[in-house]
Amino acid sequence: MDLLAHFHALDAFLEGTQPLWSPVPYRHATPAWLQNRADIAHSLLALDDNSLARLQEDPAVLEALVASWVPGLGEALALSRFPEWPRLRQPTQPERLDRFVPGRKWQQVEALVASLPEVSLPRVEWCAGKGHLGRLMSAQWPQHPVTSLERDAQLVAAGQAASRAFGLAQHFVQADVLALPDSRLLSGRHVVALHACGDLHQHLVLQAHALDIAALDLVPCCYHLTNRPRYQSLLGRLYLDRDGLRLPLTETVTARGYDRRQRLQEAVWRLGFDALLQVVTGCTIYQPQPPIPKAWLRGSFEDFCRAMAERAGIKLPSSANLADAEARGQARHARTERLSLLRLAFRAPLEAWLVLDKALRLEAQGYEVAVGRFCARALTPRNLLVHARR
Ligand SMILES: C[S@@+](CC[C@H](N)C(=O)[O-])C[C@H]1O[C@@H](n2cnc3c(N)ncnc32)[C@H](O)[C@@H]1O
Repeated sequence: MDLLAHFHALDAFLEGTQPLWSPVPYRHATPAWLQNRADIAHSLLALDDNSLARLQEDPAVLEALVASWVPGLGEALALSRFPEWPRLRQPTQPERLDRFVPGRKWQQVEALVASLPEVSLPRVEWCAGKGHLGRLMSAQWPQHPVTSLERDAQLVAAGQAASRAFGLAQHFVQADVLALPDSRLLSGRHVVALHACGDLHQHLVLQAHALDIAALDLVPCCYHLTNRPRYQSLLGRLYLDRDGLRLPLTETVTARGYDRRQRLQEAVWRLGFDALLQVVTGCTIYQPQPPIPKAWLRGSFEDFCRAMAERAGIKLPSSANLADAEARGQARHARTERLSLLRLAFRAPLEAWLVLDKALRLEAQGYEVAVGRFCARALTPRNLLVHARR
């Protein structure tokens, strides 16, 4: 199937099922689908805690279950499984260069360098951070210098120092990639972007031809980090708001022990505080609250509510029934976790739709484009690589 047919199949499926995955149960306690798919709601709400945990921890089990309820989901999930990029090479002495790099990141860098299609051009590392990827590319292809673009001065200094220590032809330029004065740094080059967020990768995709980029390898991430209120594809009918853009990145809690308990407590207490607000203000719509200092979770639920109320400029009546609010928070959390499972089963099709849109935008600018997985999901869930060359 070509990229366009692939995209259109996902676009039609996602547009048709939008009422199932678009509402966020945390905020919309009663999504409209509860009415017309009461069968799904009933099955999810009947899950015991063990079954809930199993479905949260294993996307394949969750997808199989939801696919038995939603026609077309099985096919959409199959369309979301891109082929693996072949490993074309063993990266050059990676262990020599991996000082100070967190293990997982270095393995991602190695996997990407092993899979990058052969391109004999000088390279640019887009949004380089400390330039780990640029360092390995420079060691792998010493004949092609690497220019690493990064906005943060401290990361630039750290990256430049590492490159110098290893004697590599990797040079850093401190720059805002969204406001480059001209295309000089990019023209005729091979640009490689690992985990460039939202607008940072979208700018690259939209401007590739105008910037005269000869070849591009892009691993997108954090689709929701954008200044645009909604995402419009080039050729599809579906639009995504920020919740939709965030959905592919929604991971269920993988933390263990204390972290997990703390996150659970915060979620329950936030919902409990919201239940209290509903009584006090009469507003039945979930009112999101800003992030909190972790210290607020160390006291009692009452201390938490008083701190939240004070910050929000709300006076809690002395008669407020805090025990009832906390119990309602617990009940809402249990319900929300179960109802949220439905939308989680659409993460992969949505991400595939987003990535294919980027591929099609590049194709429309005259590039030959291919999409594939460059590493296992366990190494990074953002493992889709878009390769484009003129
Ligand atoms: C998610 S990190 C990825 C870093 C690196 N590519 C990696 O995979 O480790 C994104 C990087 O983009 C940089 N960045 C953010 N906005 C930028 C901008 N407007 N111009 C250049 N770099 C930017 C950040 O400082 C950060 O280092």
